[in-house]
Amino acid sequence: MLPQWIIEKKRDGAELDAGEIRAFIDGHTKGEIPDYQMSALAMAIYFQGMTPRETADLTLAMMESGKVIDPESIRGVKVDKHSTGGIGDKISIPLAPLVAACGATVPMISGRGLGITGGTLDKLESIPGYRVDLSEEEFFATLDEVGCSMIGQTAEIAPADKKLYALRDVTATVPSIPLIVSSIMSKKLAEGTDALVLDVKRGSGAFMKNSADARALAQGLVDTGVAMGKKVVALITNMDQPLGRAVGNALEVREALEILRGEGPADSRGLTLTLAERMLELVGVKANASTVLTNGAAFAKFERMVARHGGDLAAGLPVAEHQIPLPAPRPGYIAKADAEAIGRAALLLGAGRAKTTDAIDHAVGISDLKKVGEFVEQGEPLCVIHSNGRENETQLRAALDRAFAVSDAPVEPKELIHEIITG
Ligand code: URA
Repeated sequence: MLPQWIIEKKRDGAELDAGEIRAFIDGHTKGEIPDYQMSALAMAIYFQGMTPRETADLTLAMMESGKVIDPESIRGVKVDKHSTGGIGDKISIPLAPLVAACGATVPMISGRGLGITGGTLDKLESIPGYRVDLSEEEFFATLDEVGCSMIGQTAEIAPADKKLYALRDVTATVPSIPLIVSSIMSKKLAEGTDALVLDVKRGSGAFMKNSADARALAQGLVDTGVAMGKKVVALITNMDQPLGRAVGNALEVREALEILRGEGPADSRGLTLTLAERMLELVGVKANASTVLTNGAAFAKFERMVARHGGDLAAGLPVAEHQIPLPAPRPGYIAKADAEAIGRAALLLGAGRAKTTDAIDHAVGISDLKKVGEFVEQGEPLCVIHSNGRENETQLRAALDRAFAVSDAPVEPKELIHEIITG
């Protein structure tokens, strides 16, 4: 079948069969089907959608375009977590060692940040020496010895997604549920895990701004994982305000270290524990995650993982030149601490990248963020800005002005977990 016939079939709303999807993805990955035909198919999928069966076949074809790690080659029960990305979401960093300390194995392949949402790899690289590019042998050895390893996507994992994602980015076809689902799941299911917990973010700082979209994405991810024989659960969690009190790479690692000591902000520590409990439940490991967090076992795992990755925690994390408190204009209750605006402020400071090729500054960002519902006195900091003086001050002030609102009347704190979607 010619590629244009497959495009035509999807354009007209018919269901593609597994062979057609496979032929198209394989052809594009090998360079036999040109980018313009792949772009046309992506746009047809954007408008016509895909059935759960088509989405699963697309995921499988993309996953099998590259290396698929055999779960049998990794010791123990394997479980991972994926977040669709949000502001201040540093949860993977304490979560992987916590779950490993509870007795499961966590082979975690993470991403870099783009736009206002930071990536786990960028955060980990604020630890001096930490290498995200372990060889496959080093990755397996770290999993065997420590029980968790957090690395970047290698060129061999889901190359079809790499090519397709680059096209989607420039053809306005990113926000399509089947394309997002197949992109995320083809990478996550190639890493040799038995089970996966998904944290689908909903709100101003997330990809999905409303409940209907977040639910559709969560359901698509769960259905596809289940169709591929994995145990999957999705949580829909709030991203109207940042998670925790720190946004920015080294600042978030500091908060992750607090969580690993059983301390840290209630929301980011609580979500770490909830996700850990869900992960352990999926693979049938009985352990008290809360105890493992407070007795130092999770922290010890993290130290061992960092050492295995060449990192040196004792060398300290980078610190920005200036720490500038942002005073509350009047006393009252925090009514808004907008994730999107705070993410934009962190990006302006240099904590994120607007293009994949941009360099990031690990030291800068925002800390000591007040949360919705908290009371502030006049002049008390709403947050602290960590700057190396490279930002456009007018734009930064505008983003921070948009970020906060203070109310005279008490404000209910935001609920963190909206929904749980099981397979
Ligand atoms: N993250 C991905 O990996 N792919 C998408 O399509 C969207 C978010």
